[in-house]
Amino acid sequence: MARIVWRDQLNIGFTLIDDDHKMLVEYLNDLDAAVNGRAYDSKTVAQIVLKMLQYAQEHIEREDDLMVRSNYPETEGHKRAHAELTAQANKIGAEFLRDQSLEKAIEIYEFVADWLVKHIIDTDQKLGDYLNKSNFTLSSDIFFRSIA
Ligand SMILES: [Fe+2]
Repeated sequence: MARIVWRDQLNIGFTLIDDDHKMLVEYLNDLDAAVNGRAYDSKTVAQIVLKMLQYAQEHIEREDDLMVRSNYPETEGHKRAHAELTAQANKIGAEFLRDQSLEKAIEIYEFVADWLVKHIIDTDQKLGDYLNKSNFTLSSDIFFRSIA
């Protein structure tokens, strides 16, 4: 485990999403610090894990909504990847409630960190390119919906 340093490769160029991803990296770094602390405190770790999984869920809902609103052509496949993550996150969240061991916390960290970085680079970057090429902004979306 290691601290994740935000790097340009992780920016998709759409602030709403980039800010969410940065927040998730912050949770991961909090978890990393809590797991690597001198004494393992399962209560602190459980709080971070649950908040992180909750935030990941909210972020996924925001991203799904954004894809639909912007008529993103790859919405279906991207949503499927999100649904798989949600299912896995629910599973590991439930496992952690039963077994709040250091090993389980490390497993969760590694799963989320690995998934997030890969997903941003392989999948979210394509969405960012699309949003930027089509000049999509949330304000224009709200405007167009208001006159529709
Ligand atoms: Fe995504």
